Amino acid sequence: MPRTMIVTSALPYANGSIHLGHMVEHIQTDIWVRHQRMNGHTVHYLCADDTHGTPVMLAANQLGISPEQMIEKARQEHMKDFTGFLIDHDLYYSTHTPETEAFAKDIYLTLKQAGLIDVKPIEQLFDPEKEMFLPDRFIKGECPRCHAKDQYGDNCEVCGASYSPTELIQPVSAISGATPIKKTSEHYFFKLKECESFLRQWTRSGTIPEEAANKLEEWFKSGLTDWDISRDKPYFGFEIPDAPGKYFYVWLDAPIGYIGTFKKFADTKGLPFWDYWKADSTTELYHFIGKDILYFHSLFWPAMLYAANLRTPTRLFVHGFLTVNGQKMSKSRGSFITAQSYLKHLNPESLRYYFAAKMNSSMDDIDLNLDDFTNRVNSDLVGKFINIASRTSGFITKRFNGKLATGFDELALPIIDRFYTEALTIKTLFEEREFAKAIREIMALADLANQYIDQQKPWELAKDQKHLNLLHQVCTSCLEMFRCLSIYLKPVLPKLTQQVETFLKLSPLMWKHLDKKYAINACDILPYHHLISRIETKQIEELQSESKSSLIDKTNQDHHFPPLSETIGIDDFSKIDLRVAKIIDAVTIPEADKLLKLTLDLGFEQRTVFAGIKSQYQSEQLVGRLTVMVANLSPRKMRFGESQGMVLAAGDGNTIYLLSPDSGAKPGMKIK
Ligand code: 2FM
Ligand code: ZN
Repeated sequence: MPRTMIVTSALPYANGSIHLGHMVEHIQTDIWVRHQRMNGHTVHYLCADDTHGTPVMLAANQLGISPEQMIEKARQEHMKDFTGFLIDHDLYYSTHTPETEAFAKDIYLTLKQAGLIDVKPIEQLFDPEKEMFLPDRFIKGECPRCHAKDQYGDNCEVCGASYSPTELIQPVSAISGATPIKKTSEHYFFKLKECESFLRQWTRSGTIPEEAANKLEEWFKSGLTDWDISRDKPYFGFEIPDAPGKYFYVWLDAPIGYIGTFKKFADTKGLPFWDYWKADSTTELYHFIGKDILYFHSLFWPAMLYAANLRTPTRLFVHGFLTVNGQKMSKSRGSFITAQSYLKHLNPESLRYYFAAKMNSSMDDIDLNLDDFTNRVNSDLVGKFINIASRTSGFITKRFNGKLATGFDELALPIIDRFYTEALTIKTLFEEREFAKAIREIMALADLANQYIDQQKPWELAKDQKHLNLLHQVCTSCLEMFRCLSIYLKPVLPKLTQQVETFLKLSPLMWKHLDKKYAINACDILPYHHLISRIETKQIEELQSESKSSLIDKTNQDHHFPPLSETIGIDDFSKIDLRVAKIIDAVTIPEADKLLKLTLDLGFEQRTVFAGIKSQYQSEQLVGRLTVMVANLSPRKMRFGESQGMVLAAGDGNTIYLLSPDSGAKPGMKIK
């Protein structure tokens, strides 16, 4: 049965460049979409720029252009990057559009009518000069804990402390330099809690991966809180109906951008919009997202859709982060690679292949190891795949006038048969997003083809006139194997396989062509032209050095050594009760840029501590690790719960290093 589906990748922010982290998601989505299309299904693959918010507004101000001009420029660049990586979006639109605005307002009004909107006063820091409320990132001041200067409003990069912006010493607005004042204004809230029973059922109905559902369980346990969906003017976004000067928070209209983008697409193509979005739609809706935005897509988004009586997603496909050479992408190490710099030095299909060879359906991170990348692409694509055609097609051109034999070599028949019968397994692996396993199977077939060539030695056969017939059949058999491999690799290597289609004079390859009735016998082919080049070490070096120089990390240029504090006596020091603690759980706080929620075992009791170390550590890495904590720090109420102590970490303003005792230390031991 042909299926009809909308597929999306998360909408990239308009105020940043597309980098290889984005490409993990778009390549994963694109491979899946192409696989579906090769099955004959109808797929509308949509994406857009996520355009709203304070950063875009301020960046445009600084450039002296309008936010509209800025986001359009970004959109053009982003589209160029995605096209460069052969990402086949049907439409790459924007959230700043009449379609998304209309849906944002409609959905909001429906929620309001259903009694799901609340209005509450909120106190925040306000820039009296610019007359605007300041998001945490736009306030700087002295850390209340270690007194390092020039720290952000939510978190200290030197000592890792997290706090609320109102606690900063001598806060200044990063926009105007003015001293912010505290000011209260009314905010609009979506009462998420009232959708809890729907969400509990929805998240356990196979819509999100099991490991993500477990994460959600933690969020349910800590209690769903009302979601602040408004921001005061000035703000680049959509004004809330009947609330002058109030704008929708960017995360409210971002996912609604999926609907707005589809609306634009449907209008252009004459598709029946409501068939896709009514509550009981039989079409499918898939969102590919990273694990960092799971919270928004598995709670707020389905709750809004449900409450607005619209269809909810069929499934969320959640992937992990990209690391480069085993570490988070870093500008200073030259591993923060933008799409543009990659494309300047390397072939997009090499990265598509390498990512595919490492991707699966889990939320695990994937690593781009640049040496492994070079070896893998050279050995698999050049050495195994393309080699089959380059070693055999020359004979067809030179000896047989470009015409293939009518039959295959006897010895090749069982091998060719394998190439057809593997189809079901490999297609299923693509369907389940187990691309790494699919690639393993495909390369195992390529190995068989190469073994066959080594066995039959066409170059030897060519030496003797009496073997001419066999030579013809052997080369034809190899090219049939090559045709099948090209079908298998088509979702991953769309451009290369298109060249193969031209070379072998084939109509666009589909999954159904993995069948002997489509075998290439007795047809003409074109002379072989070089299809892919090896990756040279020099290209990688150039890419790395460009990534280093074009994006020098400002915070890394000058190490920030805070001045030594006032001398204290041993009595002062001994007031601090430092203990060895074992991290037994670490949870990401989706709404906080830097915080991880740690559960620490002190041997005699457990503590919850919020630590500003998310930029450096991923939660999974930390579980089981020993660290040192201040155990007698009075508990502090934070936005996300109570922090019962503090873990110790060293920092230079750029990176953070969590302290650990030598192995053998036991939780609860006192540090003296
Ligand atoms: O995290 C991000 O990059 C967001 N711009 C993703 C938005 S996805 C959707 F909700 F719009
Ligand atoms: Zn500090």
